[in-house]
Amino acid sequence: MSLTTSAARRDLAFHLHPSTNLRQVQTDGPLVITRGEGVYVYDDEGRRYLEGMSGLWCASLGFSERRLAEAAYRQMLELPFYHSFGGKVPAISAELAERLIGIAPAGMGRVLFANSGSEANDTAIKLAWYVNNALGRPQKKKIIARRRAYHGVTIASGSLTGLAFAHTDFDLPIDRVLHTDAADYYRGAQAGESEEAFAARLADGLEQLILREGPDTVAAFFAEPVMGAGGVLVPPATYFDRVQPILRKYDILFVADEVICGFGRTGQMFGTQTFDLKPDIITVAKALSAGYLPISANLVSNALYDVLLAQSDKLGIFGHGYTYSSHPVPAAVALETLRSTRSATS
Ligand SMILES: Cc1ncc(COP(=O)(O)O)c(C=O)c1O
Repeated sequence: MSLTTSAARRDLAFHLHPSTNLRQVQTDGPLVITRGEGVYVYDDEGRRYLEGMSGLWCASLGFSERRLAEAAYRQMLELPFYHSFGGKVPAISAELAERLIGIAPAGMGRVLFANSGSEANDTAIKLAWYVNNALGRPQKKKIIARRRAYHGVTIASGSLTGLAFAHTDFDLPIDRVLHTDAADYYRGAQAGESEEAFAARLADGLEQLILREGPDTVAAFFAEPVMGAGGVLVPPATYFDRVQPILRKYDILFVADEVICGFGRTGQMFGTQTFDLKPDIITVAKALSAGYLPISANLVSNALYDVLLAQSDKLGIFGHGYTYSSHPVPAAVALETLRSTRSATS
């Protein structure tokens, strides 16, 4: 059957489309994409589109990398599924973890895999809470993110997201999640205010929020090095230089959400390096596998890992992880992707 009529398109509308006006897609039908080639995708009528956003910022190597498909196929034949529970690990996932630590900014020591950016950020929140319990600070649990941030849509990561559409009628954000100003110089600066003065005002706003809430109640601060969905906002000069000492002063973990920025998007391998960040956790996804299969990860600092280790001695177990954490097939695709991912400086 040709799918050219809008009636036929409507028949395809069984999907609940994310970030879409559902009435409109019910009326018009979806745009059906059937194949991809290089930087282009094609719809079911053969029309070609330049995919300027590489899908959802993830198809970083384009749409026809046979190497990635073949890596997946080879891995499917060799070991199509395994996991990392109970001290086991697929060899290929262990190799990917080692490779990631090899290219990660200094101080990162362990990798915990998941399936999406949202899951990775949820995991980072859980780690922040867990670590503070381990350190005997059960009241230090609030998380600060920024307005306009996008960190995902699950209950916890959607709470971090600072965009109304992700909250309205979903009963988000949950308690314990706070928002501070976005580093949006274009919209937020006052007349005549320099980038540096704007950054200083924002850093002061963050410190005032921490002081109002009580520093001993604030666990972590989340930020995208370059804010993506909120408007592709490059931070104004000195912003992170001013924010990071405040986090250190009040012993607040810094989570760099590199789900978009990671793997060369900002010129260096990670936005963390581009903006001289010293995060405790880095979350990555998307270009990790060039979008060909779902995979995400938390890169966890050595210092944080030591706390997890001590808590595992106490509890006997690290009680977190997903069935598909360390899935070997996306791991194989990610390893192949990293073979051709270079930063401008490497
Ligand atoms: C910076 C950032 N973090 C997290 C996410 C959520 O990732 P996912 O949609 O895979 O859950 C996104 C998605 O676009 C993102 O841009």
